[in-house]
Amino acid sequence: MERNGLCWCGSGKKYKKCHRLIEDKIAYHEMKGEIVPTRDMLKTIPQIEGIRKSAELNTAILDHVEAHIHAGMSTEEINTLVHDFTVSHGGIPAPLGYEGFPKSVCTSINNEVCHGIPDESIILQEGDIINVDVSTILDGYFSDASRMFTIGKISERAEKLVRVTKECVELGLAQAKPWNHLGDIADAINSHAQANGYSVVEEIGGHGVGLEFHEEPWVSYVAPKGTEMLLVPGMIFTIEPMINEGSPDFFVDEDNGWTVYTEDDGLSAQVEYMVLITEDGCEVLTK
Ligand code: MF3
Ligand code: CO
Repeated sequence: MERNGLCWCGSGKKYKKCHRLIEDKIAYHEMKGEIVPTRDMLKTIPQIEGIRKSAELNTAILDHVEAHIHAGMSTEEINTLVHDFTVSHGGIPAPLGYEGFPKSVCTSINNEVCHGIPDESIILQEGDIINVDVSTILDGYFSDASRMFTIGKISERAEKLVRVTKECVELGLAQAKPWNHLGDIADAINSHAQANGYSVVEEIGGHGVGLEFHEEPWVSYVAPKGTEMLLVPGMIFTIEPMINEGSPDFFVDEDNGWTVYTEDDGLSAQVEYMVLITEDGCEVLTK
């Protein structure tokens, strides 16, 4: 890259006054043995603008679900809410047809860890906890976030799991800043889960996102502090730990090939934020 040429990121600044400085810093950390992002993991300004718009629609879809979810409705009805709202706002539901996934949203109830498939025979009951995981494509840009919803009055046990899962994600988020590590986010999450007697699912993690549904890096939520990839401005990825009441072990539904259940039948909760690493911290793009 020409030192006096315009920076590849679209800032309009000269490269030497923009990413040259960041890339020198990355190279220094790489030399010290750190895992560092490649340039293609750093989004350009026009890409960030597009991804931000997709993420705004994703948040609006989750708000729409939040406004309408209730006991007695089927998860198929949630699918219809998500699908119709997305399409009527010019978006495409990213899950639909993704590696053969048959619906427009993932709905995972109680002992389901993730990737639950909406179905008209699955009716929300008072006392249920449910994760609704919404992912959107708008103008070719991908966004991804999920929320926990509680149906009517829930048990204290379920209430605590949902509360602690939200706290885990907020504590992880506080570690999402440049020159920290992905492992710093993971450690904040895992420590808080463990302190509450819970476990964090190990083999299913988060991911880079924006130009594709799932990009590098893969994100662990059990990695130790100071390990894994260095965080650099322009990275976009999800913070989406799955927190289990009991064992972190799980199995996948043999019939549908998707739904993930806790091995011990305990409750599982998940909250997903999609974050952009900025110069001085991070921006939550959708949650
Ligand atoms: N939304 C999920 C995630 O957070 C991905 C689900 S893949 C699907 O990564 F096909 F099930 F939608
Ligand atoms: Co995700």
